[in-house]
Amino acid sequence: MFPSYKHHVFICQNERAPGHARGCCSSKGSADLLTYMKERVKELGIQDIRINKAGCFNECEKGPAMVIYPAGKWFCLKSKSDVDDILAQMQESVI
Ligand code: FES
Repeated sequence: MFPSYKHHVFICQNERAPGHARGCCSSKGSADLLTYMKERVKELGIQDIRINKAGCFNECEKGPAMVIYPAGKWFCLKSKSDVDDILAQMQESVI
């Protein structure tokens, strides 16, 4: 049986020790952004999006890193506003 959602979102939650040369998405607020995205999806009543935690995508310096499948679109989430913009694009089928 295949899932009923159209977009599968993965947001990196990898955490490294403070001062690590590559940094990590966790230290840049990836957990808050993931929670915010889940909340907005519920508030907006969007049924066809699944949001999951992910490990490191090896894009650490650009993070918080996010990818959406099956579109294969990558994003650097810097703020809740970025999340809102991406959700709007998903609702408009731009993504
Ligand atoms: S720590 Fe997030 S992409 Fe590496």
